[in-house]
This record gives sequence, structure tokens and C-alpha cells, in this order.
Amino acid sequence: MKNMVVLISGRGSNMQALVEAGLPVKGVISNRADAAGLEYASGRGIATAIVSHRDYAAREAFDAALALAIDGFQPDLVALAGFMRILTAGFVQRYQDRLLNIHPSLLPAFPGLDTHARALAAGVKLHGCTVHFVTPELDHGPIVVQAAVPVLAHDDETVLAARVLAQEHRIYPQAARWFLDGKLVIDNGVVRVNGDHPQQLYAP
Ligand code: GAR
Repeated sequence: MKNMVVLISGRGSNMQALVEAGLPVKGVISNRADAAGLEYASGRGIATAIVSHRDYAAREAFDAALALAIDGFQPDLVALAGFMRILTAGFVQRYQDRLLNIHPSLLPAFPGLDTHARALAAGVKLHGCTVHFVTPELDHGPIVVQAAVPVLAHDDETVLAARVLAQEHRIYPQAARWFLDGKLVIDNGVVRVNGDHPQQLYAP
């Protein structure tokens, strides 16, 4: 049976959404021992591992240790879910076409951090989240699915983040399921879903 590993750094609500959607999450790996999501995972009987970036002086050495932990699960899919480390090109290549990420913006707008504050400052009227295949360029790569939400007049960062997060919890399980069902095709950097499933949603 196919399975997946989820990489987290903190709260782990996206990881939780993946588990609760019934996806075959075999392991959860965190770069922080205090990541709240670890407790949820072990409570559900899911194997957990900690690979602390603080134990490694160089990014390459950390990524090698991380790869070792991942490969122990022999996953078909590796899902980054709020994993807040920049990965080396070598790591990304090792998991090419089976490494997904969720990002809290409508990429290619607002890669990087503080996406909700930046969306508010830019005055965009639509914001959202994106699941994409990972390439060596940060928050970049073939887009699997996006969800858009309105940005309302009196939104602050907290309100907007919560509106986006609710959609993250919908689209990440969907994307992971498509992947594990072998439905995703990457054609010249563009992702299609076999069977014609909609790859966007708008949640007013
Ligand atoms: C999520 O909003 C996720 O999209 C974001 O961090 C949050 C993690 O929450 N990821 C990034 O910003 C990655 N660039 P979670 O731990 O509750 O899933």
C-alpha cells in the first residue's frame, strides 16, 4: 500500500487534516522537538522522528540526516506541512516529483514569510493558498491546486490567516489523495489531474 511522510515544524494542523482525511501517513518528522503536532501524531499511533537543524552546522548535513529519517519510511510521497526550513537543491532533487508543499498565498504572489500581512499591505482583494510540487526555488514549482478567499475590508492578519487555513485543510488532503491515486501529471511544469477534477476553489 502507498504511504506518505509529513514534515512539520510546529502546530501541525495541516498534518492533522491529512491524517483525519484518512491518508496513509506513516511517519511525521519535525525539525523541532517542541512542535505541537508531534503529540497529536503519536497520540494517533503514528511514528514520529525529530531531526533538529540545531544539531548540524551545515544545511547539507541536516538535509542528509533528514533524508535518512524519511527513507526509513520508504514513502511514496513526502508532504511539507508548515516545515520552516529551506531545503538544499540536492534534497529537493532526491524527492523530485514526490515532494509537495502547502504555502499560504496564491503563488506566485507572496512567496516566503508573512504572506497574510503582505497581502493586506498590498491591498489584494483575493488571497489564498497553494499546494505545489517543490523545486529548488523557494515556494515555487508546478501548482497542483489553489483555493482563493476574499480579503475583506476590516480583516487583520489573524482573521485572514484563519480564513486561508480553513482552505489549506481542504486542498492539501485533496492534492495528496490525487498524488497517491496516481492522478497527477506534470506536463512542462503544469499539473493536470486525470479525471478532470477542478484544481481551484473559491471560498467566499
Ligand atoms: C500553514 O499556514 C502553512 O501553509 C504555512 O505554515 C502554516 C503551518 O501551519 N507554511 C509556510 O508558510 C511554508 N512556506 P500548521 O503547522 O498548522 O500546518
